[in-house]
Amino acid sequence: MQYDLTIIGSGPGGYVAAIRAAQLGMKTALIEKYDSLGGTCLNVGCIPSKALLDSSEHFHNAKEHFAAHGIKTSSLEIDLAQMINRKDEVVSQTVSGIDFLMKKNKIDVLHGLGAFKDPHTIIVTDNKGETREISSKKTIIATGSKPITPSAFNYDKKRVITSTEALNISKVPKKMVVIGGGVIGLELGSVYARLGTEITVVEYLDRIIPGMDGDCSKELMRSLKKLGFTFHLRHMVTKVNAGKNNVKIEVQKRDSDETFEISADYCLVAIGRRPYTEGLQLENASVSVDEKGRVIVDDHLRTTHADIYAIGDVIRGAMLAHKAEEEGIFVVEQLAGQKPHINYNLIPGVVYTWPEVAAVGQTEEELKEKKVEYKVGKFPYKALGRARASMDVDGMVKILADKNTDEVLGVHIVGARAADMISEAVVAMEYRASAEDIARMSHAHPTYTEAVREAALMATENRPIHI
Ligand code: FAD
Ligand code: NAI
Repeated sequence: MQYDLTIIGSGPGGYVAAIRAAQLGMKTALIEKYDSLGGTCLNVGCIPSKALLDSSEHFHNAKEHFAAHGIKTSSLEIDLAQMINRKDEVVSQTVSGIDFLMKKNKIDVLHGLGAFKDPHTIIVTDNKGETREISSKKTIIATGSKPITPSAFNYDKKRVITSTEALNISKVPKKMVVIGGGVIGLELGSVYARLGTEITVVEYLDRIIPGMDGDCSKELMRSLKKLGFTFHLRHMVTKVNAGKNNVKIEVQKRDSDETFEISADYCLVAIGRRPYTEGLQLENASVSVDEKGRVIVDDHLRTTHADIYAIGDVIRGAMLAHKAEEEGIFVVEQLAGQKPHINYNLIPGVVYTWPEVAAVGQTEEELKEKKVEYKVGKFPYKALGRARASMDVDGMVKILADKNTDEVLGVHIVGARAADMISEAVVAMEYRASAEDIARMSHAHPTYTEAVREAALMATENRPIHI
């Protein structure tokens, strides 16, 4: 079989690239080693984690907040099996949506492990060991990532787990230790904390979500402590030993020899993910990887072979589904002779805890490091009528603007619905809005978005209305 474009990996990078290629008239093949399409994101990432986050948040609200709203409940119980079933149902509906889209766009889907025989020939081996050979003018590598599991942590998938296993626990644990205070640790830690699990986070650096603005780290940590999280910042795990029913975690203070041990039902390892290229036989295609195992690409996302491109988690940059999607579209449109562009500075990042955290552009720490002169506008959720009405008063909107031009350089939100609100900031920054531009636009009342306007008013002229 001869294709214009073959994509290896059907995650959000790969399947979106396939659809765009079909729209542009390319004869397209998509290779996926698992039976279901959608990659990490749909099967064991974004979608199932958000399904469990929503279910657990409903339970938490019913338990903690309904009474204040005047709703009485009796015998509130968790049916974890049903919670997991609903999550599985959401995944299966979403995955079958991708099957439908592949058929609709006449994309050939080949299930099996893709490996390069040479730069223009790929061998696909299915799970029965049968092989097919296809040739392709161009190829996109979109093989994603896997969790990092150092050998000292003795990852056994039973007591020492990663996000994949944490999505399928059968009984609410009493205690869980999370290694890594990043996105996965805090999202999945929140799921179980809301269900009643005691969560202890061990984080190597001096703050959680370290890539985000420092004020977001502080705000989120305050909220998660209220939920019952315990944090050991500036600590590292030296060893994890799993027993049959529990696990012992050896922890050491980062800057001294002081050590202690924690026992728990589970240890969730969430210290980042690594690019996944196993089995691809990149050497047969002259495709190189860097010291971190990432496929090396240039500004056009072309690898070290001119006809092979790479996108998503397997290359440099943020490991986010929407970043992978943008890159898939970017490569395909280039192949079709168009001139697409990705503004990496304006890819938003979201943490789906409650309150949510969402950000776009530069953090205050980055501006300081670059010695950019900036102004800050910060508005607390508790000053919003909307937040009081819903009892979601934790959080703030922070806008960073250039001191001289007033251009918005970064927007950082912690609070209810931050994930959806960040889009306003992305649009504003894509059009290079000033803080005054945002401040002069009408924001519906009562909404959380009024905090964006108020923060912009503060950044531009330090004249908020409601504080
Ligand atoms: P992947 O989605 O990893 O897909 C790669 C695919 O390639 C896989 O299906 C794999 O089986 C296949 N493959 C690999 N090698 C081969 C081969 N040789 N032959 C054939 N097939 C192969 N991101 C967000 O933006 N928002 C979120 O809310 C979010 N939540 C997450 C929650 C969790 C628990 C996790 C783990 C991740 C989350 N992410 C989230 C990150 C997101 O899932 C990834 O950034 C995204 O899936 C990357 O897409 P991708 O297409 O590069 O790779
Ligand atoms: P992460 O990079 O977000 O966080 C890892 C954390 O572990 C960091 O705070 C780091 O300092 C810490 N750490 C590293 N090594 C450590 C050690 N030995 N001991 C203690 N702490 C250590 O990685 P995470 O949470 O595993 O997520 C992986 C990727 O998945 C992220 O890059 C993220 O982009 C993506 N993801 C995105 C989500 C979203 O967009 N909402 C949700 C979940 C995952």
